[in-house]
Amino acid sequence: MQFMATAVKGLEDVAGAELRELGAEIIRKAGGRVEFRGSLETLYKTNLAARCINRVFIIIHRANVECLDDIYRECREVDYSWIISKNQSFGVRAKRIGEHPFKSPEIASTVGRAITESFAESEGERLKVNLDMPDVEFHALLREKEFILTVNTTGDSLHKRGYREYQHYASIKTTLASSLIKFSGWKPSFSFLDPMCGGGTIPIEAVLMAKKKTNTRDFAFRKLKIHNEELYVEIVRRMKEKEIEKPNVKIAGMDISSKHLEGAIRNAKNAGVLSFIEFIRGDARKLSKYIKFSPEFIVVNPPYGIRSSRKRIIGALYRDFLRSLREISCGSTLTAVTAAIKEFKSACEANEIEITEERSVMYGNLPAEVFKCSI
Ligand SMILES: C[S@@+](CC[C@H](N)C(=O)[O-])C[C@H]1O[C@@H](n2cnc3c(N)ncnc32)[C@H](O)[C@@H]1O
Repeated sequence: MQFMATAVKGLEDVAGAELRELGAEIIRKAGGRVEFRGSLETLYKTNLAARCINRVFIIIHRANVECLDDIYRECREVDYSWIISKNQSFGVRAKRIGEHPFKSPEIASTVGRAITESFAESEGERLKVNLDMPDVEFHALLREKEFILTVNTTGDSLHKRGYREYQHYASIKTTLASSLIKFSGWKPSFSFLDPMCGGGTIPIEAVLMAKKKTNTRDFAFRKLKIHNEELYVEIVRRMKEKEIEKPNVKIAGMDISSKHLEGAIRNAKNAGVLSFIEFIRGDARKLSKYIKFSPEFIVVNPPYGIRSSRKRIIGALYRDFLRSLREISCGSTLTAVTAAIKEFKSACEANEIEITEERSVMYGNLPAEVFKCSI
């Protein structure tokens, strides 16, 4: 089967590497998507264990199209009887990127009509439509002329980990946090610090990664006709066996605000990882005062100050933070994501810190940059 996973735009290679480790054969990666080949086992494993992706879809059909009629014709030709059963409902969600003389809802209704008619012809029954809670959720993506029809196998996005009881005002998406950690090159045998951890997402994700924690949710693939419960239960058993209950890690999270730190502690407790993280209230501009070890990997998303009046303060914070980091962990690797790109680069220059890799990503709705630096 062919699959498509949605990943952080700009860090698709990181998601691709993770999927490869889980048995996927990568076909291509770009535009926030990773396409891969694999079996039902690959589908289960990627949903259960990947930390850098949001959803996994089965690719049902792909074509180049010019108009809605083309979309109808392409989808009408497809056999759906292997993925959906007679008594089930379906829904179509559509997304459109580029210039087209029609809107996404028109794509959704065109695809819906084609699915209903194709299924009625082959199976002799009309499928029920349910747009809110369908048994089978089709996704139609039109990117310029490229049309891809997929089925959601994940259900709710994997970035919703369920531990975030405290909502930090600028929290990082969990899948971006995990992608940054993987991009940094960190392995659980190295010491780790997030010196401006806010609600604790980055250190929490680092521990979950070290624990090889499996994702739990009511996966959408369990309603697909191809689902094999016996195989699934066996894979869950094997993945649970690989989980590490007490990983031997040195992970710390620090923040200047006691309110955020308390929130981070609540989140870590909820995630079941509190005992593996040292939470410290302290100032990232004076690390030697608060951090009593030399972190080998530092992953952080510092404040970025959207308003221009804040940019000067942010620039000074970055300069002082980097100077202080050089004092405590010369030879370490820093990975940072920030929307204050100019300020970060000039702070590196001022401290003679080399940027070894740089990636453009989206931080929520803001264009941001990921920097990897050797300290
Ligand atoms: C963008 S937020 C981090 C969000 C976090 N990654 C999360 O997912 O919740 C930046 C954090 O840096 C903290 N901060 C700002 N200046 C600091 C300083 N000098 N030392 C330590 N933390 C600082 C803020 O309190 C804020 O929580």
